[in-house]
Amino acid sequence: QDALKAELLAVALEAARRAGELLRDGRPDDLGVAATKSSAVDVVTEMDIASEKLITAFLADRRPADGVLGEEGASFEGSSGVQWVIDPIDGTVNYLYGRPDWAVSIAARLTAGDGETLVGVVHAPVRGETFRAVLGQGAFLDDKPVRVRPAPPFAQALIGTGFGYVAERRARQAAVVRELLPRVRDIRRGGSAAIDLCDVAAGRLDAYYERGLNPWDFAAGDLVAREAGALTGGRPGEALSTELTVAGPPGLFEPLQAFLDEHGAWHD
Ligand code: IPD
Repeated sequence: QDALKAELLAVALEAARRAGELLRDGRPDDLGVAATKSSAVDVVTEMDIASEKLITAFLADRRPADGVLGEEGASFEGSSGVQWVIDPIDGTVNYLYGRPDWAVSIAARLTAGDGETLVGVVHAPVRGETFRAVLGQGAFLDDKPVRVRPAPPFAQALIGTGFGYVAERRARQAAVVRELLPRVRDIRRGGSAAIDLCDVAAGRLDAYYERGLNPWDFAAGDLVAREAGALTGGRPGEALSTELTVAGPPGLFEPLQAFLDEHGAWHD
């Protein structure tokens, strides 16, 4: 499997590099909203669509038998047993406003069994950073290995989170933040789940959680976080899912997961 992993990593890095260049250098000054999704504030720009097209065309050229699942609708079953999970811009609202924290997120996972992720790349062009991980081979920021920060006491933890785009769900998310904020060092809302997970990997956040992410938001960042020593999951005893995503070092992950479960962070 090592040869396959090496090939998938090379393809993912090159696809992310090309899309990142298009997005950074081709961002129109008058960039507007092309469409909305789950609510009026859940936006798609013409550049999300252009980035996904570039990535899927590149993958179709290099790995034509692989499946594809993309945020903006790319969907192809494939026959190779490998599926690419793509977020062409994670942090679209940051991108729309010209804020730096957005990334191209690309993961390759097996379609059989538990759908294990083999490779994850999170490329943040304006930050000038590329996170990558290969299953069993560690996580890297550019060429430097990254490692989670050892767990601090809960009350000293810097916790990242994010919010969905539907008002009712946000009201629930606000109620959880209201309980959590007085109990920790502080809370950050960066605007890109993929980068948040990589920031846990690099020790720039102690932990991260969010309700209601999609696979393209977390697939690559989850592997980067785990390969850097984080535990990731959903509700206690469950795998990370679209219901709840939690990531943090052993010793902080468990109490955060328990806190979120107790305060109903997983429901709307
Ligand atoms: C969003 C970002 C954001 C998170 C949202 C996601 P998108 O992804 O990851 O940080 O809070 O839940 O939908 O829409 O920019 O790809």
